[in-house]
Amino acid sequence: MSVHRIREYPDPVLVSPAEKVVDFDDSLLSLVEDMWETMAQYDGVGLAAPQIGLGIQVAVVGWKDRKIVLVNPEVIEAEGEAVQEEGCLSAPGIFEKVTRPCRVVVIAQDEKGVSQRIEESGFLARAIMHEIDHLQGHLFFDRLSPLKRRFLKRKIQKRG
Ligand code: NI
Repeated sequence: MSVHRIREYPDPVLVSPAEKVVDFDDSLLSLVEDMWETMAQYDGVGLAAPQIGLGIQVAVVGWKDRKIVLVNPEVIEAEGEAVQEEGCLSAPGIFEKVTRPCRVVVIAQDEKGVSQRIEESGFLARAIMHEIDHLQGHLFFDRLSPLKRRFLKRKIQKRG
């Protein structure tokens, strides 16, 4: 297992849609292990493969005793609206209130290719949607008003 370097915005891999996973082989198993280790190392609650430089649809979400692996996830239901502050390992130091659904149902495969139906609400629903956004080439500030988004992106680019 190894900890990977986290890519930061505006790294191109973070703003491009990720490819679907087709091969469920040993390299995918070890990638998911590495992602858990990297997430823990950086004190995150979720991590998507593009954040370690891989443009494939793999993400993990871990909070308390719940550990969710999302391969090729698809949101099939989203309900309600909740506003809460979010941050991202790929945009350090930026925290903003983001509106997300209160409850989501997602179909995804696990690291072995087994399809699963995942239903979560509250914080876990938010974390899952944040990671799925990464797989579509979006960061959380893409969910903000255009004005706020432009301001934040400029701030980050100046810093980099
Ligand atoms: Ni993130």
